[in-house]
Amino acid sequence: MKYNFGAGPCILPQEVFQQAADAVIDFNGLSILEVSHRHKDFVAVMDEAIDLVKKALNVPEGYSVAFLQGGATLGFTIAALNMMRDSKSAGYINTGTWASGAIKEAKKVGVDVNILASSEDKNFSYIPKNFAIPAGLDYLHFTSNNTIYGTQYHAFPKNDAPLVCDMSSDIFSKPVHVADFDLIYAGAQKNLGPAGATLYIVKDEALGKSTSPFMPTYLDLKQQVEKESMLNTPPVFSVYVSMLNLRNLIANGGVEEMAKRNEAKAALLYHEIDSNPMFTSKVAHEDRSLMNITFQLVDEAHKDAFDALWKGADIVGLPGHRSTGGYRASMYNALPIESVHVLVDVMKEFTRKNG
Ligand SMILES: Cc1ncc(COP(=O)(O)O)c(C=O)c1O
Repeated sequence: MKYNFGAGPCILPQEVFQQAADAVIDFNGLSILEVSHRHKDFVAVMDEAIDLVKKALNVPEGYSVAFLQGGATLGFTIAALNMMRDSKSAGYINTGTWASGAIKEAKKVGVDVNILASSEDKNFSYIPKNFAIPAGLDYLHFTSNNTIYGTQYHAFPKNDAPLVCDMSSDIFSKPVHVADFDLIYAGAQKNLGPAGATLYIVKDEALGKSTSPFMPTYLDLKQQVEKESMLNTPPVFSVYVSMLNLRNLIANGGVEEMAKRNEAKAALLYHEIDSNPMFTSKVAHEDRSLMNITFQLVDEAHKDAFDALWKGADIVGLPGHRSTGGYRASMYNALPIESVHVLVDVMKEFTRKNG
């Protein structure tokens, strides 16, 4: 058994892996991998997946859900194209690599991007607050959890501008007040399912209002919603496993219960980082992520010794992102608290031997 702290694709519940494996052999007499996406049995899967997203996040009336492809990376473009209005001017908050990616792609499709705040001055180790938001923006974009740096919004920016959020790495980890947003998007491969599907939750009023002169059919959320995510062949397997995982989430108490578990897991590891003299964290306390916990050795000279210990304990996925170094423990919904205990014990043992 491995303790998987990978940042995504990542751990999902073991029961979901088993059910997915069963359906690869026999979904309805056919494998889920060979069934037509137009077959009523798969249409029922897509309908249930959409319904379960609405149920899990308490999505209000007047919102639609779609499962598309292209990852959150295509979401950067889809968000900009669909939310562009007369002013073509939008506010972005730069909290790291993925927020920067969203900014870059919005500029490419002609959005006049105002970077209203950035935490680049301190290597993205905090969430900017108390910045001015000009009137008249088409929308305001932010990234709810910064997977690479380990920061997370614990209160969302509130403004008159329609809010657009990349929630790839913390959606379904806690309740979210969907009515505050015009558009939420998220790659599936953290708390939702396998890579391949990308989730969109969009306010119906926002559909069909784009002023972009360029709108490829696939990128038009209005058409995608009207075609119920079946405009072309959807990512069948990823949607199927997401549906299984959403069933599992709801059966286990839903996002409220996940929030409690995620808080307990994060508290355990942050306590060890803060109390163990061999480790440190660069992230501002109030902005610490509950999903991706980044930390460093106080003395890099001990790297080989620490790496040997956690690898020997069957921990995988612990190195930080290649752009940051250090360590990152990703603690998505499916990561059991026992895995965090194993990591904390390794950290204690390391300090006993090397401190
Ligand atoms: C917050 C966030 N946004 C965007 C992305 C890019 O997602 P994708 O690989 O699905 O395009 C990631 C990937 O980890 C992410 O964590």
